Amino acid sequence: MADRVLVTTDDLEHAVRINAQLEGAGYDTALVSSFDDVRQAVRGRDLPPDCIILTGGLHETTAQHLLASAREQAISTLGLVEATEPDPKGLARTLGLTAWLAKPADPAEVAATVRRLIDRRKLQQRTGILGESPPIQEVLVKIEQMAPVTSTVLIEGESGTGKELVARGIHDLSPRRGKAFIAVNCAALPETLLESELFGHEKGAFTGAAERRLGRFELAEGGTIFLDEVGETEPATQVKLLRVLEDHTFFRVGGVQPIKVDVRVIAATNKSLKEAVTLGTFRDDLFYRLNVLAIYLPPLRERRSDIALLVRRFIAEFAAQHDRQFRGITPEALQILVDADWPGNVRQLRNLIESMVVLAPEGEIRAGDIPPDIRDRSWGGAGGVGRLPMRLAHTARDVAGQEVEFILRSLVELKLQVEELRRRIEDRPAQRVEVIEVGGGGGGGGGGGGSGSVATLPNPFDAEAAPEPHVIYRAGMTMADVERAAIEAALKETRGNRRKAADVLGIGERTLYRKLKEYALA
Ligand SMILES: Nc1ncnc2c1ncn2[C@@H]1O[C@H](COP(=O)(O)OP(=O)(O)OP(=O)(O)O)[C@@H](O)[C@H]1O
Ligand SMILES: [Mg+2]
Repeated sequence: MADRVLVTTDDLEHAVRINAQLEGAGYDTALVSSFDDVRQAVRGRDLPPDCIILTGGLHETTAQHLLASAREQAISTLGLVEATEPDPKGLARTLGLTAWLAKPADPAEVAATVRRLIDRRKLQQRTGILGESPPIQEVLVKIEQMAPVTSTVLIEGESGTGKELVARGIHDLSPRRGKAFIAVNCAALPETLLESELFGHEKGAFTGAAERRLGRFELAEGGTIFLDEVGETEPATQVKLLRVLEDHTFFRVGGVQPIKVDVRVIAATNKSLKEAVTLGTFRDDLFYRLNVLAIYLPPLRERRSDIALLVRRFIAEFAAQHDRQFRGITPEALQILVDADWPGNVRQLRNLIESMVVLAPEGEIRAGDIPPDIRDRSWGGAGGVGRLPMRLAHTARDVAGQEVEFILRSLVELKLQVEELRRRIEDRPAQRVEVIEVGGGGGGGGGGGGSGSVATLPNPFDAEAAPEPHVIYRAGMTMADVERAAIEAALKETRGNRRKAADVLGIGERTLYRKLKEYALA
């Protein structure tokens, strides 16, 4: 389907020539004469245009309304600015035009600009990466170039500059898009937990490793793994990462079998890895392995021209999300935001806009709504004192938070397993499930608070040897072992009738089928 472009007829001569050029280039074009026409074209039809060219009347309020409409729907706009305009750049920024050209405009140049705007818009829609500044445009070009290959990418940039957004963009544009994208924050976990998180562990690899657990590398098979804050990894983990990057194999913690994976690695860091190499805290061979392709995301204060656009888009997004009628932002307030230092970069700006959209009393962000620390630019104040604690506080909170989350998750998993076990025992006492703690079963914690009898019993997994359909708990058995044995016993009792077995076990037939497959009993 052809891309759609609307051309306003404020400057009829330009409009006609541009329209002919675009039609010749295969676009689906329409000349629109009044604001109502445009509004209908933008809002009324099923498919909004991909780009609108305003040939004149940029100072009219109708143009401003039209641009606001276009912005809401993420339609690119190209304005033709009069040659007499004293500050065309400033005008384009105030209006929120995506691009501008001075009059007289060459139709071929207009067509080339339209092509660029439409291609970029599509890419930005797919990735969610906003920004018109040259560095962001460069990043978008790199994403397009890097997506199709499997080489490792290293993304560098301060906190909140969009590193994860870029990593996801590369994955979503790559042939791996149908497979997993798995993000791991390497700074969030202590070394041993991180290794088990990345590479998994074998049953009994360490205290508490009751079951084999797959690591993120295995879970990302065929897809992409995003190693955030890779500079924070310890030397031992660095060696293991180097091995995966070199020959795509690794060992689970406590494992002896090498495991081969097909995973693309994208790494990110908010401190200079090169510097870490010089300081000796990061292996140089790993750095070169990671740094095959590199993307640098500059801090927001180095691309201030993006701030107005980000502010507008975040306002529109949060106004819709919080169901608030919101007019926008006053020029004075916008200027304060453009001039601020943004140590937390886009994340900080985005969070601030959300709070102001929710809290601003007038349905519009005014200078007085902006917190004093931003207004006074105190973040970047003398000696940058304000900057450092914020970064550290953020990271420390993240690390602690994720560690706690990991522990909580493990506890919840454990609790669910215990509850499931208890439910089974209570549901069907003595006849089918007998829990016996066997002393000296060799290694492992065990600790199942069962009936307490100590006995030597036949191997529950050997169907021939087990005379009765009993399930026996032995120290060291995992919940999965018990469950598998219970299913075998139930099937034995029901002479292989799966419907009845499911009934006996108190689970759905579909669950039973799933478990049969899981335990390779089918
Ligand atoms: N160019 C951008 N356009 C739109 N949103 C952005 C852009 N850059 C960042 N964001 C938003 O800012 C927030 C932070 O981005 P992201 O998590 O990718 O940053 P980061 O560089 O990974 O930060 P950190 O180093 O703290 O992990 C996210 O909500 C993201 O959507
Ligand atoms: Mg991140």
